[in-house]
Amino acid sequence: MTTVQEYLKNSGVYEDLSKIISLVAEQAVPIRAAFISNQGYAGSVNASEEQQVAMDTWSDAHITRVLAKSGLVRAVASEEQDDITTFSTSARYSVVMDPLDGSSLIAVNLCVGTIGGIYDGDVLQPGKNLKAAFYILYGPVTTLTLSVGRGVAIFAMDADGVYQLQQDNVQIPEGNLYGSGGLRTEWLPKHTIFITDIETAGGKNRYSGSFVADFHQVLKYGGVYAYPPTKGLENGKLRLVFEANPIGFLAVQAGGAVSNGISSTLAIVPSNVHQKTPVYVGSRGMIEAIEKICST
Ligand code: AHG
Ligand code: MN
Ligand code: MN
Repeated sequence: MTTVQEYLKNSGVYEDLSKIISLVAEQAVPIRAAFISNQGYAGSVNASEEQQVAMDTWSDAHITRVLAKSGLVRAVASEEQDDITTFSTSARYSVVMDPLDGSSLIAVNLCVGTIGGIYDGDVLQPGKNLKAAFYILYGPVTTLTLSVGRGVAIFAMDADGVYQLQQDNVQIPEGNLYGSGGLRTEWLPKHTIFITDIETAGGKNRYSGSFVADFHQVLKYGGVYAYPPTKGLENGKLRLVFEANPIGFLAVQAGGAVSNGISSTLAIVPSNVHQKTPVYVGSRGMIEAIEKICST
């Protein structure tokens, strides 16, 4: 058995970076415990003008407090906070996070997650510069899917709250699952062609409304998760810094790809921490297919 701490040590990851990853991952225990008493809405909206549920604000405040207290973090940027908060310019690493992804599903008890990314230096860097990317999935088992730039590993939390390595060197197979956000009536023609092609080839539709949960299926079974540009929302819904980049980094590390339909989202230098991007992420063949359709 290999714990996440042993994995990080064996991977030669710098101590502060390892500590930050472990610290955030450990927060799965209090976050899970908080679900039962935080079922409603928070009564506020975030920078993306979305209604915040109680767990959005709870997990955001909780993780931010833990990171601030650690003394290890330079700055934090969160989907649920308007601005980047700098704790200490002498610290090396900055954290970006979607503290609770898929939060509209809490009320119906479906899988949700926490997404994180860590940069050396400041926050507004292209995703390809990530030093670590991960997500926690609050499923029947709590899992941590992690990359420190040496492939992807999945850990499962045991009864003692310790993450044990479940699968190393995860590779996305060339499968046929697909899930797409946005109403079909609002899709643009190129996206409709892409999805229709997949359906014609016998693709299986899997879409829950939680990026983390839906991507995790794609990671294991192969296929594509998409949140396309739609009529009136030409940059889609998902956030480049908090969602597309950490998940895209993991996909690439697993031999897959990520794209906005034209090229990799990991190359984009963010100008605004809350900026949106269309997202296509999953098996390499799927991403090649949408890029081919968009290039014509
Ligand atoms: P969040 O809960 O962090 O706001 O993210 C929701 C995102 C993502 O998790 C999911 O794939 C997508 O929004 C679902 O959107 P639709 O409800 O439009 O399908
Ligand atoms: Mn999200
Ligand atoms: Mn969220």
